[in-house]
Amino acid sequence: MRRSTIIGTGFYVPPDVWTNDDMTKLMDTSDEWIQERTGIKQRHIAEDGIGCADLAKFAAEQAIADAGMTNQDIDMIIFATLNPDVFFPGSACILQSKMPFGTIPALDIRQQCTGFIYAVAIADRFIRTGWCDNILVIGAEVHSTGLDFTTRGRDVAVLFGDGAGALVLQANGADGGVLSSFLGADGSGGDLLCIPAGGSREPASHRTVAEGLHYLTMRGREVFRFAVRAMPSATRQVLEQAGLTTADLKLVIPHQANQRIIESSAKALGLPPETVFSNLEWYGNTSAASIPIALCEAVEQGRIQQDDLIVCVGFGAGLTWGATAIRWSVPLPAVMPSRWKKIWQKLRYRYAALRSLVLRFLRWLFALRIKE
Ligand code: COA
Repeated sequence: MRRSTIIGTGFYVPPDVWTNDDMTKLMDTSDEWIQERTGIKQRHIAEDGIGCADLAKFAAEQAIADAGMTNQDIDMIIFATLNPDVFFPGSACILQSKMPFGTIPALDIRQQCTGFIYAVAIADRFIRTGWCDNILVIGAEVHSTGLDFTTRGRDVAVLFGDGAGALVLQANGADGGVLSSFLGADGSGGDLLCIPAGGSREPASHRTVAEGLHYLTMRGREVFRFAVRAMPSATRQVLEQAGLTTADLKLVIPHQANQRIIESSAKALGLPPETVFSNLEWYGNTSAASIPIALCEAVEQGRIQQDDLIVCVGFGAGLTWGATAIRWSVPLPAVMPSRWKKIWQKLRYRYAALRSLVLRFLRWLFALRIKE
C-alpha cells in the first residue's frame, strides 16, 4: 500500500530572543503573570523586513538535506501560515522563487494554528493517490509584525513568537508513515480568534488602523475552553481511524499554545505528562510552525524512535482542529548528497536567481512594447 513517510525534518527560529522581562518594557505585564497563565518564558522575534518565506527557506533547506535530497527531488510545496509575506501571491510561491524548485505546484494553507495538520493531510492524499512522490510541507510564521505590543494588546502579544518548521514526506510502500488524519472546523466560532479588518469585508482604512482592527483579537477564555475539548477529541478520533488507542501511543506532539492547555489535554486522555511533548517555554505559540518545530526537537532529543506511534494534534482560528497519527518508520534514508550533487545544487540556486532576474527584465521589456 502506498503511504507517505516523513524522511526529513528541519526548523529555524530567528536569533533575536525577547524574554518576558523584555515584554514588561513594552506593556503593563510581568514575567510572573505570563509564566503562571501560559508557561511561556521567551519567544524568538524576526528582524524588520523578514517575511515567513525567509524563515521557511532555512527550515526547508535543512529538511531537504536531512532527507538526503536536493530541491529537484521535490514535486510540490505546501505552506501553512496565518501571516503570509503579503496578501498575495502566496508564501509557497514566494518560497519557490527563493529556492530553485523549478515550476512545481506551490500551495498555501490558511488554517492558522491547525494549518500544519491540514497541510500534512493534504500532502498525504497527494502522495497516496500517486500524484506526487516527495512533498515539502512547511509551517512558518512571522507573528510579531501582526501583534499590538502595547498594553492594549497584552493578552495576545505575550503569547506568540516567530519561527518555521518543515518536513519532507515521501511515497513509501512500508507499513508505517502517516496512518490517518482527522480534520474539523466550526465557522460559527470564527470571531473568537480573528483579525477583524483588512480583508474584502472591511478593507484597511485610517479608522481600522487607528482602532487596531488589523491586529489579532482573541476571546482567550473561550478559546481555552474550546482547545481543551478539541485536542483530546481529535487525538481519540485519529487513533480510532487507525484502529489504535492511547495505550499504543509513544508521544503526542500538541500545538504549543499554553502549558495549561497541554496539561489539561494530557489529563483528559489519561496520559502521563512525559508522553506529551512541550517546548512552549522557549518559543511561545508559533501557530502553523509550532507542531513541526516541536516534532523536530522531539526527534533531535531522541524522544521518537523507529516504529514509535506518535500523534500530532492542533487547534486554532476558524475554529479548526485536527490530528495526524504517524508510525515513525524511516528515520535513516540519510544518504547525504554527494559533493557533485551539492555543487549542482549551488549552481541551480545561482541559475534560479538569474532566471528570475531575466524573466522580470523580459516582462519589463514586454510592458514597454505594449505602451508603444
Ligand atoms: N499581563 C498582565 N495581565 C494581563 C495580561 C498580561 N499580558 N493579559 C491580560 N491580563 C489581565 C486581564 O486584563 C485580566 O485583568 P482583570 O481581571 O483586571 O480584568 C486578567 O489578566 C485575567 O485575564 P483572563 O483573560 O481571565 O486570564 P486567563 O487566565 O484566561 O488567561 C490567556 C488568559 C490568554 C492566557 C488564556 O485565556 C489562554 O491562554 N487562552 C487560550 C489562548 C490561545 O491559546 N490562543 C491561541 C490559539 S491558537
